[in-house]
Amino acid sequence: MDKIVALCKRRGFVFPSSEIYGGVGSTYDFGHYGVLLKSNVKNEWWHSMLQERDDIVAIDSAILQHPRVWEASGHLAGFTDPLVDCRACGQRFRADHLADLPCGRKPSKHPGETDECSLTESRDFNLMFETTIGPVKESGATAYLRPETAQGIFINFKNVLQFSRKKPPFGIAQVGKSFRNEITPGNFIFRTREFEQMEMEFFVPPAEAERWFEHWLSERERWYLELGIRPDHLRMRPHDPDELSHYASATSDVEYLFPIGWSELEGIANRGDFDLSRHAEFSGEKLEYFDQATGERYVPHVIEPAAGADRATLAFLVDAYDEEFVEREGAGEGERRTVLRLHPRLAPVKAAVLPLVNKDGQPELAHQVHRAVGALVQAEYDDGGAIGRRYRRQDEIGTPFCLTIDHQSIQDGTLTVRDRDSLSQERLPIEGVAEEIARRIKAPWKTPKQL
Ligand code: GLY
Repeated sequence: MDKIVALCKRRGFVFPSSEIYGGVGSTYDFGHYGVLLKSNVKNEWWHSMLQERDDIVAIDSAILQHPRVWEASGHLAGFTDPLVDCRACGQRFRADHLADLPCGRKPSKHPGETDECSLTESRDFNLMFETTIGPVKESGATAYLRPETAQGIFINFKNVLQFSRKKPPFGIAQVGKSFRNEITPGNFIFRTREFEQMEMEFFVPPAEAERWFEHWLSERERWYLELGIRPDHLRMRPHDPDELSHYASATSDVEYLFPIGWSELEGIANRGDFDLSRHAEFSGEKLEYFDQATGERYVPHVIEPAAGADRATLAFLVDAYDEEFVEREGAGEGERRTVLRLHPRLAPVKAAVLPLVNKDGQPELAHQVHRAVGALVQAEYDDGGAIGRRYRRQDEIGTPFCLTIDHQSIQDGTLTVRDRDSLSQERLPIEGVAEEIARRIKAPWKTPKQL
């Protein structure tokens, strides 16, 4: 993981937040390539939800919601982790993770293991961030930063049903920030207090819930595999009954084999009618579906695939990271290269346009090519430094194609296309190269990474 963190900093994917002030624990800022990569992950998710099917609609609900939402959802009473304080070192620990955590004073031991430790009794700590609506704290209503995007979907069920002319089975999808005051965040962008979710609530007739649960398990597994995750690094893990959340009758996690071990990317839960029934009870609104054809009235059951955008981004980065020994291009000796073998659809930059030298009309032609390619896909112009160094830089940000303009380009209107993975170079006419790159980005792709 250290190599990924270093690459992310070096190449401007992810920076520790507020670094000039010494940082804030476990918060990160996304730089240019990180923004592009995470947007591509989210766009692929939207694509799979909205464009590949016609039974899901989008929503973007507010982060601040009525406090009763969190009473109805069960978060106010039950969204807690057990917490202990150590009076000796002043640190806080998750009471159920003590055996995995380092002691605040003697990191080789666990909290509570030394005579100096002085742990308090465990108490429940609510993970929701509290704030106040309005300018005056005393008179303002207490509100919470949403700990999941899902509730913003349930409270809009009636609105969506009315305008979208959908009937169960149908889904409502949302991507957005959520906030959890985790006691022990960590592992880079895997667990942070502010994070982005990609959640979809699929409303179904109760008798069809089991079938749709199975459907979403296989759909979500397929999504990661099609985007290039190595199959032996992905698994589906059903929850044991004692792991289930208060709302779920069944849940399976999609897990990825990170350097820290198998960890959750996404949970797919059968939430039954818990959420709509609770919001109906707390709001007094009827949240049900009346089927005019059959005369049947029912509260739909919900199947929820809930994925983390930051976690997915990290998994794609880890899965793509590769190092290999190659011939140095343009010089006859070998060197080690670091390359991100990202699926071309996820790569932050699809094509880099590189004039071989900064003279003889090459920069002018390269700018023209950059404009043409950039009109179709995210492209970058780079004329800084030796060509070998520029290729290495593009390898490290995962650019699948480098388009090099050289002396011959000026004479015959061709350029070379260098392939990130195979390092092959191919001469193509400049005319039509933008369309060709766009076509190659969309083609099925399988990682050549060996381990
Ligand atoms: N909505 C489920 C979750 O946030 O994990």
